[in-house]
Amino acid sequence: MGSRAPAITMRNDSFSDGDSVRGEPLSEKTETENASEIGCLSVIVLGASGDLAKKKTFPALFNLFKQGFLQQNEVHIFGYARTKLSDDDLRNRIRGYLKSGNGDSSATSEVVTKFLMMIKYVSGSYDDESGFVHLDKEISEHEISRKSNQGSSRRLFYLALPPSVYPPVCKMIRHFCMNRADQGGWTRIVVEKPFGKDLASSEQLSSQLGQLFEEPQIYRIDHYLGKELVQNLLVLRFANRLFMPLWNRDNISNIQIVFREDFGTEGRGGYFDEYGIIRDIIQNHLLQILCLVAMEKPVSLKPEHIRDEKVKVLRAVTPIEDDDVVLGQYEGYKDDPTVSKNSNTPTFATVILRLHNERWEGVPFILKAGKALNSRKAEIRVQFKDVPGDIFKSKKQGRNEFVIRLQPSEAMYMKLTVKRPGLEMSTILSELDLSYGQRYQEVVIPEAYERLILDTIRGDQQHFVRRDELKAAWEIFTPLLHRIDDGEIKPIPYKVGSRGPDEADNLLKKAGYVQTHGYIWIPPTL
Ligand code: NDP
Ligand code: BG6
Repeated sequence: MGSRAPAITMRNDSFSDGDSVRGEPLSEKTETENASEIGCLSVIVLGASGDLAKKKTFPALFNLFKQGFLQQNEVHIFGYARTKLSDDDLRNRIRGYLKSGNGDSSATSEVVTKFLMMIKYVSGSYDDESGFVHLDKEISEHEISRKSNQGSSRRLFYLALPPSVYPPVCKMIRHFCMNRADQGGWTRIVVEKPFGKDLASSEQLSSQLGQLFEEPQIYRIDHYLGKELVQNLLVLRFANRLFMPLWNRDNISNIQIVFREDFGTEGRGGYFDEYGIIRDIIQNHLLQILCLVAMEKPVSLKPEHIRDEKVKVLRAVTPIEDDDVVLGQYEGYKDDPTVSKNSNTPTFATVILRLHNERWEGVPFILKAGKALNSRKAEIRVQFKDVPGDIFKSKKQGRNEFVIRLQPSEAMYMKLTVKRPGLEMSTILSELDLSYGQRYQEVVIPEAYERLILDTIRGDQQHFVRRDELKAAWEIFTPLLHRIDDGEIKPIPYKVGSRGPDEADNLLKKAGYVQTHGYIWIPPTL
């Protein structure tokens, strides 16, 4: 096993609910607080037979195990789903998704085998008590068998399931699978997006879950909040004097937050057709990024202080105008047999959000997301205004831009006009470039899910969506979504492998974005 990090059971590495950020405990822990973070840990993946579980959840747990965060003698992992599988069947399903990283194939790697032996499978339905009684029995047996268990038992339930089954599953957990209160420890649940389909359904889901669990027990995961450069936003903005005076309507012309994928719905057509690109990407991933880009400085790094500021941003968003929306649907989308033949679901959308507050009045936030486009990338592009009284105007190459590339090739670069090197006095657009692959060659950037699961075990809710945040996010998009669902706004067809509909680029121009022709940033090679 690697030695990159201490185990989560070590004292100085443990944090209590809502009180700290990773790596910097803000207060000394009492013995009782520490006790709730030691002892045996059971991670229960519900929907273990599914796509997310095998591609993301189990691999993230494996990576944590590999790095020493999950100790073999204290942690046990349970898979739960309806499909009849043996322990080995489940292990074989996920084996191929685990990368040992030491050159061994996953089939022969010792670390993979050790990890897989920590996993047990329990089959049962999602609304019937017998399965959950059985699950509880298995978890309890594991808890009793752990010699190092100092009285507390920690149970983390990860719902890798369609949201339609969250209410019955949560009810079953509440009634049959909670940790024993007399033993200390905790029970937490992780729920995946989409949290509802609109404001009403989301609120209904929230209140159903709220009747069963307290807010500090509920972790609404948005995996974009676990990405390295998204987590860097807070540091970048509030630890650098450089940005403070510039980050406002006086200097910034427009901000784009972009998600592009170069593949279509890939086997998830049934799910996607019900939700569409706004619910799948914009209402959650891109909006969360917008909050971090636009929020005011929180009074501290406590999760509640940060989330308070994010909610204020969402509440400042004005109703979306029709003229600020372009929808697209890629040609061939409806050929997928799981997609309705007359589907009105957008696979592409550009939506401009406008904030009515002192810092951002007049600055368009352009959120753009699309599937089956010409490239795969996610980035934040902050475009500054033109230089007033520009004496180089006739020679100028383009505006200053600060680009944060979330993926692939994590980087930040600042586009600057400089003198073209040489005898002549002319200008050229260049960049100050912080490419992570080059600058941090020794660092393995963790997967978002890996980081977020670790946060759930540590009880740090900073990178999870709070209930009022979720409500405010749905309030922004629900009127538009209802109009799309009713067929009042139609997506424009676009070719697979294109930039999306031309109308989207026209909207970008209208919003004030000035494209720099002839400039391409090339990620440095090692
Ligand atoms: P799946 O469709 O693969 O479902 C997961 C498991 O849930 C299935 O193996 C199945 O297990 C059970 N299940 C499926 N449909 C139903 C149903 N109608 N009623 C009861 N049980 C059902 O989903 P994913 O793994 O793709 O996603 C799980 C959650 O994660 C969803 O909320 C999804 O939106 C979210 N998500 C998924 C991502 C991905 O890349 N896949 C990315 C981000 C979020 P069994 O029949 O064995 O009980
Ligand atoms: C998920 C969406 O939340 O994010 C998918 O449901 C999308 O449609 C995925 O493909 C993208 O995640 P990432 O981390 O690969 O950018």
